[in-house]
Amino acid sequence: MNQLDSGAPGATSWSRKDLVGIQELSPAEITTILDTAAAFKTVGTREIKKVPALRGQTLINFFVEPSTRTRVSFELAAHRLSADVINISASNSSLTKGETLKDTAKVFEANHADIIVLRHSSAGAAQFLAERLHASVINAGDGAHEHPTQALLDTFTIREKKGRIAGLHVAIVGDILFSRVARSNIHALLKLGARVTLVGPSTLVPRVFEELGVTVTHDLDSILADADVVNLLRIQHERQRKEYFPSLGEYTALFGLTKARAERLKPDALIMHPGPINRGVEIDSELADGSRSVILDQVTNGLAVRMAVLYLCAGAQAPS
Ligand code: CP
Repeated sequence: MNQLDSGAPGATSWSRKDLVGIQELSPAEITTILDTAAAFKTVGTREIKKVPALRGQTLINFFVEPSTRTRVSFELAAHRLSADVINISASNSSLTKGETLKDTAKVFEANHADIIVLRHSSAGAAQFLAERLHASVINAGDGAHEHPTQALLDTFTIREKKGRIAGLHVAIVGDILFSRVARSNIHALLKLGARVTLVGPSTLVPRVFEELGVTVTHDLDSILADADVVNLLRIQHERQRKEYFPSLGEYTALFGLTKARAERLKPDALIMHPGPINRGVEIDSELADGSRSVILDQVTNGLAVRMAVLYLCAGAQAPS
């Protein structure tokens, strides 16, 4: 019986109860998650796609903001690990009656929840709960701050397809200013040794990002031939309070991955997008479904990555 079959935590460089962001993780911790995810990915190919690792534990999937990919992926990951799962959204919780986030989360804990997966529109919401609960808190996206499991599944997919992260040139294109996905990816990629270029209009990709150790350019055409990976981000209409570019048509003309631009990419360049896609805006619809696109591989890998994160954080919980 291997380690995952038994559900017994093995020797890892992981001792955190929570996953709030990538910024605070070491390269070794990121690699531990990616390696654990690789082991869990094989579980999905078996006839019986379950391991007993979290049997007897309860996970609450608390999504205060809409989600398809992340919510489904965490729910399925918890089922695959044999946890009991409850899904709660803002509209069917007592948040609508004025209850605070902390009081709602304390209700979960009073019901012996072991893990709370939180998506919230406010940056810092996951950290706030992590500091106040004994349960593990996993950040499923907090405002424009971080979306750690998205970055982990993105780096997992790059590593799987390219065999490495170190030395690769990754271009992240679009709405960086409002993107938690961009922030988490920047931290993960730099920690693992990639070179990162941020591309977009100056209003959405200010030069101040260079302080993180990335390159900023406002000219997508200038980096196409050199990129190993192009990660296209969605325009975050819900987080923009004013217009940051004249029109969607103008955005696509300057920063959209069109078929003409894709011809200038390296033949083996990966095309990524965290989803949901605005087809025809940040990416041509045929390219999104084309042979260089790994968009659905990202979704598949998200399941293995989230199994790894739940497994590691739950294993790190101190017995009460
Ligand atoms: N990529 C991502 O977070 O998608 P959802 O909003 O559908 O979860």
